[in-house]
Amino acid sequence: MVKYITDYFRWLFLPSMFLFRSGQPKEYKVPGWEDILFVDNPDDISEVNNRTGDIFLGGAGNEFLGPLFGEQSVFLLDQEEHLFARKVLARSVSTSVNENVLSELKKFVCDEVDKSVLGGNVYLDEWVRRLTMTAMVRIVLGEKDSDFIKEVFTLFEKTTGFMANIVSYRKSFWNPENFFSVGRIVASIVKDIDKLIYSEIENARNNRNKDDDSVMSWLVMNQEAYGYDDQFIRDNVVSMIAAGYDTTGSSITWMLYWYSSDDNALNLGKSVSHGDGSLVDSFISETLRYCSPIEILPRKVSPDHVDEALEITKYNLESGEGEVKDMPMVCPCPHRVHHDPKVFDNPEMFVADRFLKKSYKKNEYLPFGGGRRLCLGANLGRTLLSLVIHVFIEKNVNIALSKKKFRPIRRNVSIWPGFKMRSRFYDNN
Ligand code: HEM
Repeated sequence: MVKYITDYFRWLFLPSMFLFRSGQPKEYKVPGWEDILFVDNPDDISEVNNRTGDIFLGGAGNEFLGPLFGEQSVFLLDQEEHLFARKVLARSVSTSVNENVLSELKKFVCDEVDKSVLGGNVYLDEWVRRLTMTAMVRIVLGEKDSDFIKEVFTLFEKTTGFMANIVSYRKSFWNPENFFSVGRIVASIVKDIDKLIYSEIENARNNRNKDDDSVMSWLVMNQEAYGYDDQFIRDNVVSMIAAGYDTTGSSITWMLYWYSSDDNALNLGKSVSHGDGSLVDSFISETLRYCSPIEILPRKVSPDHVDEALEITKYNLESGEGEVKDMPMVCPCPHRVHHDPKVFDNPEMFVADRFLKKSYKKNEYLPFGGGRRLCLGANLGRTLLSLVIHVFIEKNVNIALSKKKFRPIRRNVSIWPGFKMRSRFYDNN
């Protein structure tokens, strides 16, 4: 019983034992949620990726994101509807990430770094989340006003706090009908988000500005041509803001944590001053290897394809005592592959130039997931990481963290190096 409770607590808040250590359990029953089968061998990951979309359903696996993201979110869809949503969203993102936006964002990051060097202590994780929220609101909604960004930030922060860890992994909490249900609280936060997003849709529709290069503007402008409704826009705009600010936030926080460790800042500074950007690229890849923000890629097995799923996963539904188990959720696990000594030498070490020495296959290195469900913001995410690290390098600013060692913690669905990471920014010149 004690082990049951401690394992559950670890899953919810300190999931390292499921991710980094050798001899991790192959299966885990998340109480109140799903039974998980971890897929941690590169060949098996390839097979699951190849059959994701028919045997292994990512949309059904992402059901737990439904209360916030909504049922038309690309995250929750499968098959034709999923392919359609991906096509539309990929187009909207590609037009909205352009030189103009990136130079505005760079200026914003420069100002924030300058302010923090002059100011006192900074909670690094919170500082980064504000920054990535600003980027996502600018890119997705086309809004720059700081009060508006603050309002969006406050609303979304309520959905990614530590209570959300419990809500996401406990199905009984999703019901918004019961008076005492946590789902009721979630529904009331989501109602405020809806109000704000639907009013942005109206705004984009009525005050169309030809210079507005945001995802929202693109989605409203092309609505008739593609035939989706306002809820499709709402669900996918919310999904992109939430997914983008949280995952990119976690990655940048990890990146700055490594930047402040050992000689990384010095070495990166030297290579950039020699006009060589390859070490920065490798450093970013290594950050995403060491701790990818998303630790499992949940795939629900289609009820029509259980036999094929059993063959691919080599799973046996019969337990030793003659009982027949349910088919678990099949979960490729990037962390376990990223820390497999057969794939990565000294996986527990952070090696900034690791990716300069060797390249890895898609089934060995998958911070952005894979197959048909590969992250739609992968380029944008990497671009934002690169933009931020270049600001620190160019300004020769470093970060002193008050605690040097952190234990990976879960914040809703992403993994962060810590909570309330007190730090001080300082000028190295
Ligand atoms: C470094 C930053 C990021 C990381 C590490 C990351 C990681 C991931 C991962 C692991 C998945 C799941 C893939 C799968 O199931 O196989 C995903 C999906 C997704 N991400 Fe990202 N992401 C990042 C940034 C972003 C950004 C900035 C956006 C905003 C456009 C975004 C939008 C999405 C969307 C829409 C999906 C769903 C794709 C689908 O189900 O077809 N991500 N991301």
